[in-house]
Amino acid sequence: MIAQSWKCSSCGHVAIGLFPPESCPACHAGREAFITEHEFLFPKEETDAVIKACWKVSYGLYVVTSVQGERMNGQICNTLFQITSDPPRFAIGINRRNLTHEFIASSEVFAASILGDGDHRFVRRFGYRSGRDFDKLKGIATRIGRTGCPVLEESIGYVECALLSDKTVDAGTHSIFVGEVVGGGILKDGEPMTYAHYHATKSSAQ
Ligand SMILES: Cc1cc2nc3c(=O)[nH]c(=O)nc-3n(C[C@H](O)[C@H](O)[C@H](O)COP(=O)(O)O)c2cc1C
Repeated sequence: MIAQSWKCSSCGHVAIGLFPPESCPACHAGREAFITEHEFLFPKEETDAVIKACWKVSYGLYVVTSVQGERMNGQICNTLFQITSDPPRFAIGINRRNLTHEFIASSEVFAASILGDGDHRFVRRFGYRSGRDFDKLKGIATRIGRTGCPVLEESIGYVECALLSDKTVDAGTHSIFVGEVVGGGILKDGEPMTYAHYHATKSSAQ
């Protein structure tokens, strides 16, 4: 595993990664503007330890939904966290290729339904196929929240956010969206699903 630091020859911005960014997040110069500075080598024997340490970072699991006109869609997301409490704001990491990304970027709203620890069926439905291929919300009990986004009735609770679009971060394959909380609530008792619990139980779960 070799990560390098890349310096933008146009503005001096430094990015770390295996490859230079597609464009400079500071001055928007193209990839060709980046020159490599230093090399950080992870010796082979450290690579396994680095990967295992990454696996110890814990997450929950959520169905993140959004809208575009009359259309609605949702996807599984583990990269959601509350980034500030006053004002209450959440950040999510969403792949640019996802239909949900397209919807959030255009409507500037999203909702996150918090999955319970037995909700494997929702992960299977929302996490492995795109809404471009089929209507993932068809037949799923939902309520429409204040933002117009659907919320899963069978989740243990939800938050709804309005995007702070000037705070969206280009993270390469993903965008990091930051949203201010504009609604939410608890829908039932239950323990939230964690990413680790999902992976430990997914092969035996219904
Ligand atoms: C356990 C799990 C966690 C996931 N976490 C994320 C995530 O944090 N961000 C993301 O963009 N995709 C994540 N995905 C993948 C998306 O849910 C998946 O690509 C989905 O099919 C995208 O659907 P869409 O094209 O309808 O938006 C995850 C999938 C699974 C199974």
